[in-house]
Amino acid sequence: MRKIIVLNQKGGVGKTTTVANLGAALAQMDRRVLLIDADPQANLSLHFGVEIPRGEPSLYTLLRQEDAPGDVILPTPVKDLSLVPAGIDLAGLGVELAGSEGRHLLMRRMLGRLPDAYDYIIVDSPPSLGVLTLNALCAMEEVFIPLQTEFFALQGLSKLLGTVKRVRRVNKKLRITGVIAGMHDARTCLAKEILEEIKNHFGPRVFKTVIRKNVRLAEAPGFGLPIMQYDPDCHGTEDYTALAREVVAMEAARRCGEPQGAAPRSMAG
Ligand SMILES: Nc1ncnc2c1ncn2[C@@H]1O[C@H](COP(=O)(O)OP(=O)(O)O)[C@@H](O)[C@H]1O
Ligand SMILES: [Mg+2]
Repeated sequence: MRKIIVLNQKGGVGKTTTVANLGAALAQMDRRVLLIDADPQANLSLHFGVEIPRGEPSLYTLLRQEDAPGDVILPTPVKDLSLVPAGIDLAGLGVELAGSEGRHLLMRRMLGRLPDAYDYIIVDSPPSLGVLTLNALCAMEEVFIPLQTEFFALQGLSKLLGTVKRVRRVNKKLRITGVIAGMHDARTCLAKEILEEIKNHFGPRVFKTVIRKNVRLAEAPGFGLPIMQYDPDCHGTEDYTALAREVVAMEAARRCGEPQGAAPRSMAG
């Protein structure tokens, strides 16, 4: 099983869009995929037309062991793609847990209670490095970082890398294995320059697939559908399908035990 967190503490960089559509593309490639919405804003849940009233089964009640996985995990319009939805009560979790021992390990413990029925678990994270993000970092093994090919792309990155480095002390399996350049507008020189900068910084860990700006990607959530079902012929479908192929291609290397994208130079050790 591959356990991936899509992480960037900045909002609006394409995390949720990536989790929804990469997940759906992987499911269409016969992988069994579970998406976890760890953002109290619940954009991923809304992307699949799911709205959870306070108190109803959700990631919050699953983390708190108030509900069993079977009561929380929902199907989506895509076969083999399931969702642990978020509800607004997730926003209070950090305060509720403040000072409690092991508060960063709730998601890791939760994984042990999930059915062993998935090839991929992909977590959508909130735009912060708070308790929910730390829970996901302690539970997952791979970090995918989406970056916009725009001026502030690399700003804030050292904080993100520092957090990953700190979590690696308790979760040795955690690696940054993929950087996704997205919302790319190839017509502008600046976007091309930023893309080069991202490649210089992260080297081979940058996926070859660059996600182009495509208004269809912004429209699809309004219909509760992933991009492949909303518009099978748009750039968004093409790009996320290509990205999923690259992600699947990493499986063979993982099985052979090849190094999994080690820590970046600045955070080696
Ligand atoms: N490649 C893209 N082209 C056009 N719009 C996009 C693209 N990726 C995401 N969006 C839109 O940009 C906004 C922010 O994306 P989102 O995935 O919600 O970011 P995050 O989860 O990081 O906050 C959303 O309205 C989304 O629909
Ligand atoms: Mg989001």
